[in-house]
Amino acid sequence: MARLDGKVAFVTGAAGGIGRAIGLAMAREGAVVGMADINEPLLLETIAASGMATLHGYACNVADRQAVRQAIDAHVRAGGGLDILVNNAVRFHYGVLAEFPEDIASDMIDVGLKGVFWCLQAATPHLIARGGGSIINLSSIAVTMAIPKAAVYTSIKGAIDALTRQQAAELGPYGIRVNALAPGSVPTPGANSVIDAAGWQSRTGKSVLKRLPTAEEIADAAVFLSSGEARSITGVTLKIDAGMTVTGP
Ligand SMILES: NC(=O)c1ccc[n+]([C@@H]2O[C@H](COP(=O)([O-])OP(=O)(O)OC[C@H]3O[C@@H](n4cnc5c(N)ncnc54)[C@H](O)[C@@H]3O)[C@@H](O)[C@H]2O)c1
Repeated sequence: MARLDGKVAFVTGAAGGIGRAIGLAMAREGAVVGMADINEPLLLETIAASGMATLHGYACNVADRQAVRQAIDAHVRAGGGLDILVNNAVRFHYGVLAEFPEDIASDMIDVGLKGVFWCLQAATPHLIARGGGSIINLSSIAVTMAIPKAAVYTSIKGAIDALTRQQAAELGPYGIRVNALAPGSVPTPGANSVIDAAGWQSRTGKSVLKRLPTAEEIADAAVFLSSGEARSITGVTLKIDAGMTVTGP
């Protein structure tokens, strides 16, 4: 028996990067997975390439509260309920705060923070109806260390950690576990847009395992946190960074 047999999951930002790896890993473990993304062509390509009939695509902007509700409700109808929500969608942009453009900051907050609010609002009643479930929010090791030019991004991820604790407390009585994953630097289209070759090299050098985590390794942790093996784990932020934040000076 696979670890997520009989489960229904909804993953945001699932067309590429870490979200894609999580959606595919959950489907391989037996879940019916709703793959939501604003990039519809890439989403369709990802689902077609997977060859898996248990992946359902939803073209959806998580910043649009109504669109989120429609997509999650549609997936609940398709899957017969909802057990797992993965809040993964993000907009990457680095720049010094003093000159940071207002429209980009607003867009990042709309997607990376308010988008999580809307997904939680839409999904929680379905998880309660199921008698429990698992919510995973994507945080970052950027919360625990200062990264040059990442003030807006890290502020959003810091809020995600606080929200994870808050929701773990509020939803625990319903049997819903809420955890966060804090990846180290993982080569993805989004991370590549803000990290150059020298940045990747220095991150690899700082990691005690002398390599970087892959999107598939983040997905393995998401499967674990969603499975029965993690039934007593809630309110935690789990670092997966190949030891990049272990050492001091
Ligand atoms: N890659 C890393 O190094 C790293 C490190 C720490 C944390 N994370 C976190 O992991 C998560 C995934 O990161 P990634 O590197 O795979 O990002 P990515 O930019 O490569 O992929 C993000 C996906 O989200 C989608 N998306 C963007 N805006 C959206 C919207 N409004 N509605 C729906 N979908 C939208 C994009 O189309 C894309 O498919 C993020 O929450 C990120 O903060 C990543």
